Amino acid sequence: MADESAPLDVPRNTDEVVVLDYGGQYSQLIARRVRECGVFSELLPNHVGAEEVARRKPKGLILSGGPSSVYAKGAPALDPALLELGIPVLGICYGMQLVAQALGGDVQSAEVGEFGRSTLTVKESGRLLEGLPLEQACWMSHRDTVYAPPPGFTALASSTVSPVAAFESVEKAIYGIQFHPEVVHTPFGQDILKKFLGDICGCDMTWSAANIVDDQIRLIREQIGDRKVICGLSGGVDSSVAALLVHRAVGDQLTCVFVDHGMMRKNEGDQVVKTFRDTFKVPLVAVDAETRFLDKLRGTSEPEAKRKIIGTEFIRVFEEEALKLASGGEGAKYLVQGTLYSDVIESGGGTGAATIKSHHNVGGLPDDLQFELVEPLRALFKDEVRAVGAELGLPERLVWRQPFPGPGLAIRVVGGEATKERLDLLRDADAILQDEIRGAGLYRDLWQSFCVLPDVRTVGVQGDERTYGYVVVIRAVTSDDAMTADWARLPYDLLEQIAARMIGELREVNRVVLDITSKPPGTIEWE
Ligand code: XMP
Repeated sequence: MADESAPLDVPRNTDEVVVLDYGGQYSQLIARRVRECGVFSELLPNHVGAEEVARRKPKGLILSGGPSSVYAKGAPALDPALLELGIPVLGICYGMQLVAQALGGDVQSAEVGEFGRSTLTVKESGRLLEGLPLEQACWMSHRDTVYAPPPGFTALASSTVSPVAAFESVEKAIYGIQFHPEVVHTPFGQDILKKFLGDICGCDMTWSAANIVDDQIRLIREQIGDRKVICGLSGGVDSSVAALLVHRAVGDQLTCVFVDHGMMRKNEGDQVVKTFRDTFKVPLVAVDAETRFLDKLRGTSEPEAKRKIIGTEFIRVFEEEALKLASGGEGAKYLVQGTLYSDVIESGGGTGAATIKSHHNVGGLPDDLQFELVEPLRALFKDEVRAVGAELGLPERLVWRQPFPGPGLAIRVVGGEATKERLDLLRDADAILQDEIRGAGLYRDLWQSFCVLPDVRTVGVQGDERTYGYVVVIRAVTSDDAMTADWARLPYDLLEQIAARMIGELREVNRVVLDITSKPPGTIEWE
């Protein structure tokens, strides 16, 4: 079996804290918050065991929250050896209850759960809550409740519903909090994490994504040596940053391949080519495949069929270029992937080097190409990738690019065929929207903002004349991870300006509407 949780390739001279994942919705967030405090963290599945944790020589251990009751059959249990590693332990929510249960505290299922905002009343600050207000807001999400701490522990605080909302044993170096320090609704949460990481674990808080660049470059050089490597560039932040890191490491041994399928936003293809070929001098093969894709899409309006056609064709084009670059004795043997730490976690925390993202951007290459993967971002979260991108001098526009679906504008020309005419119209409408959103300083606040062009025309009146034109839909959402999303409350004046420009500048458009559906029940895209 593949080694499920080999330590990530990060400079070993920084301290690390392990977060064990008991299935809580905020587990990834805990790991990110620890890193924001300047300490490298890994999120490991709870079943890896104490030996696996010890192998990383962490300075501390955090047990996450989780959806189970400690009394439920099959609920993840605490390996007692985890409390004997000689490093401080912080249990959060379910993690605290596990500690309480294991060491003889009193945990019971309460009549009333405690969900959402609550007030923490500190009776004794102890070491963990030292210097923090005696009354503070906190975020709760639990039904099981700790009624008494284990013998030898001090109860530090209570909340509206929880008699023991924080406890500690300084002697054993074990700490527990019922609330979630990692969410923004616990305003002193980050202070508590810092206290645990700095004062209690004694971590050197110097980790930052940007200062691992030199080490990553060394690792890439070790892996690739003097051989050739290729990278599929999509214009997104992940593949851009991965390509730049590899280029810094091995220079012109890298060739990037950019397939323009004709479904990109206005000028996007040119920008990618300009940035990489002209500014960074990265050898780049740019394939203009617009006609090829449009031909394949002719007559297709069903969304999944469009996705399939674009995905398959993309692989075909990429494969042709990759084969050209890989042929011959000096050919490329390595393929760069922009795999992120969240992908690693989602695929079970393993090294997973063999799983190429099925995502069509760089996806699904046939086995006989026999590339070895280079994944310089696999230790990093998205926000850290942006920091590395900025460090490498990637333009702000690329560093902060909103997510863009692989099939591009084809799935935003809805209810009909993605023809060149309709794609161009959508591209122009989208350019106006982006221009206005950026002008208003809102681009970074939105998860995504884009236009949709339904196959619908409506009647209007312009300059005393009846018009019969297209409707453009504005879709703008806020979100943390695209799993859920809220429609963005854009200012009315801005909406008016956007609508006026679209109707004024685009002859074929005579009506602009706003999508006010959240996800769920809607999805972010219309197709
Ligand atoms: P939905 O529409 O499902 O989208 O709420 C969630 C996120 O996924 C993106 N998306 C895609 N990305 N290929 C991609 O690479 C696709 O086929 C695709 N469909 C949706 C969408 O833009 C949003 O960020």
